[in-house]
Amino acid sequence: GKSGYDHFMLKEIHEQPRALRQCLRGRVDELGGTVSVEELGDLDFDRIHLVAAGTSYHAAVYGAGLLSAEGISAQAHYAHEYASSPPPIEDATVVGVSQSGETADTLAATREARRRGAGTLALTNTVGSTMARECDDAFYIRSGPEIGVAATKTFAGQQTALNLLTQVVADGTPDRDLVSALRDLPGDVQTILDESNAEAVAEAYLDAEAYFFIGRGLNFPVALEGALKMKEISYEHAEGFAAGELKHGPLALVTANTPVFATVVGDGELARKTVGNVKEVEARDAPVVAVTDGRSDADRYADHTLEIPETDPRTAAILANVQLQLASYHTAAKLGRSIDKPRNLAKSVTVE
Ligand code: M6R
Repeated sequence: GKSGYDHFMLKEIHEQPRALRQCLRGRVDELGGTVSVEELGDLDFDRIHLVAAGTSYHAAVYGAGLLSAEGISAQAHYAHEYASSPPPIEDATVVGVSQSGETADTLAATREARRRGAGTLALTNTVGSTMARECDDAFYIRSGPEIGVAATKTFAGQQTALNLLTQVVADGTPDRDLVSALRDLPGDVQTILDESNAEAVAEAYLDAEAYFFIGRGLNFPVALEGALKMKEISYEHAEGFAAGELKHGPLALVTANTPVFATVVGDGELARKTVGNVKEVEARDAPVVAVTDGRSDADRYADHTLEIPETDPRTAAILANVQLQLASYHTAAKLGRSIDKPRNLAKSVTVE
């Protein structure tokens, strides 16, 4: 059952600390500062193609960012595009990212990869799923069953697992910052769940014409995911953009009636540039919701702030998403939507 929560989605958002602890268990050795994943076998990870759909695609984009930052050639592809017009595959290892392991589009992509002789890995939540059985190896995210159609804890699980995969593939000693950030991650998520003001933010923008989400680097896929969650359960128009793309077109849509959720992490170059984008939308009278650790001056230009604990940039993108999950959830709940079973959607899309 829903253990007292109004919806499975809210229950599953709250299960994230436990789900992430399970994902990390036995895989991160804090004392030794090492990461190991025994399921990874002896696949060759010199070149990686991540294939996925929907929320899992956003995890794949995030994962490609993590891997690229370690100097590993990695690309994220929509599975449905990949299956019908694949790039050269043969010397790549293809990672199917799929919560269910049953998504027809993603299975078509991993099957095409196998047919062309590539090694395949299923990164999935579902033991014994078709993808887990068909791929050479299966890496389980251990999020526990997810009932709500909207993917929540499994996205956080995928992000966490992709950090582990990246460290194993990078084949060096993971940096201390990441190991301690992963150790703190479940507790940091709990802090957000205990202290979030996302419900008040949702209340403030129920009459919005559209909801926009922006971010850079690892927070670009977070913007995409924030928008997908919002449109899926609230039925309101929502779009996610790479923050740098705004002034190349989308800025024309920005008005006083389009709140912009901007994720700003740290105080470096990416944060400075994203604060620049925040000023641009603020100058067009758009309400700004800053999702931030408070290390930049983003909140100075924001109408609301959704705070995240200070952490490594890699885990910050996991935390920022939790705030956006809550903002979408509360918006949809206040609008009286069918949160756990949104119209027209199925939990697992088993047709191409
Ligand atoms: O089971 P999968 O991860 O392969 O599912 C892929 C998408 O259908 C899925 O992530 C969908 O976008 C989510 N339900 C959105 O919340």
